[in-house]
Amino acid sequence: MGKLFRFGVSLEKSLLDRFDKLIGRENYTNRSEAIRDLIRQEFVRKQWAERGNVAGAITLVYDHHKRELLETLTHIQHDYQKIIISTQHVHLDHQNCLEIIAVRGRATDVQLLADTLKSIKGVKHGTLSMSTTGREMF
Ligand code: NI
Repeated sequence: MGKLFRFGVSLEKSLLDRFDKLIGRENYTNRSEAIRDLIRQEFVRKQWAERGNVAGAITLVYDHHKRELLETLTHIQHDYQKIIISTQHVHLDHQNCLEIIAVRGRATDVQLLADTLKSIKGVKHGTLSMSTTGREMF
């Protein structure tokens, strides 16, 4: 973290009370750290919206008994090997698998990969965690 600067913020008491309640539930120890995280979150949201370079994780839950599904998942991941950093496979139980795919690249490509994987028949649940490469903003 670079040099810290202080600045004053004025806002309605009701809004401040709600903010304090919110950050209390999220275990922030002070308002400064909560506000810093909100600002960072907005920069990350903007990077995704402006189709910049991003990083993130795609999480999938699926039934591995569906043989074609495994082949399709592998095939698609090979097509996107330039943006896939690593894949972790977890056997949740006898039937279900959890796959966590770490990605880095252009937001449009990452979004397209996530949408493509999520929409495959047999994928029970899929999410895209939109994060950042950490550059340009901290
Ligand atoms: Ni498995």
